[in-house]
Amino acid sequence: MRFETSRDVLDWYERQPRALTPEFLSSIPWDKVKDHPFDEKYVPVLFYMRDVETLTDMYHRELLRTPTGKDPDISKFMERWGVEEITHGEVMNRFLNELGYETDEKWQTEIRDAVTKAYQANAFMITTLTNLIGKKFTATHMTFGAIHEMEAAQGYRRLKTLTDHPVLNPILDAIIREESAHNQFYWSVAKLELSRNKTARRIARFVTERFWAPVGQGSLAKRRTQYLVSTLFSEGEGIETIETKVTQRVRQLPGFEDITKITDTIADMAATSDVPFEAALP
Ligand SMILES: [Fe+2]
Ligand SMILES: [Fe+2]
Repeated sequence: MRFETSRDVLDWYERQPRALTPEFLSSIPWDKVKDHPFDEKYVPVLFYMRDVETLTDMYHRELLRTPTGKDPDISKFMERWGVEEITHGEVMNRFLNELGYETDEKWQTEIRDAVTKAYQANAFMITTLTNLIGKKFTATHMTFGAIHEMEAAQGYRRLKTLTDHPVLNPILDAIIREESAHNQFYWSVAKLELSRNKTARRIARFVTERFWAPVGQGSLAKRRTQYLVSTLFSEGEGIETIETKVTQRVRQLPGFEDITKITDTIADMAATSDVPFEAALP
């Protein structure tokens, strides 16, 4: 797909139907969840995904205070994006409940309240910095968004391959479809913004090399990220998936032709972490 402006990208995005429609959600056979085995070791992964999805709302609000969030096309995208991510978190939570993991009625508030102080201070600093740099930082935000969406989609794909649960499979397919549309938006706008300006390219590359970490690390405990990465990516084709489906796509962005950071980080984390099950739960 070729887009000339972020408006074109937004128009494309708005033409994409939702995968997790009310009809789809009401067709999920929740009463069948327990009829099929589900390896307990993936439970912390489900909690992690649920929490990351739920926290996008916080990130959304931060971004609205920056020039990126004030861009009309991006903010329009983010309105729907935010709603979709919340649904992903809710579906994950419901699946956990049906598996037998009860959650409090106010679980979403608890997740937001539990975010580390360090993260909040950091987020504040980044927002302030962003405002200083201004519009040129949009390319960085969009690049980060694209990488996070690709990682999320690959995480869900790996989870599906490894668990192969008949009720979870179609849910994951629907989520993956929405993550792919999110990625297409971020990636396309990143490409436009990066092509436009050399400084924007330099900043985006620098910030990615220096600060990129798997989605959720920073707002959630690092051991939880480590557990997820090693559980989903340490075996089989895990790392290869990250290389071909994430890193190689990022390399198509102007200024990122030789990046190795994402594969390197994930491979290193997958090989070195041995966080026990109990420590990986929220
Ligand atoms: Fe999501
Ligand atoms: Fe997403």
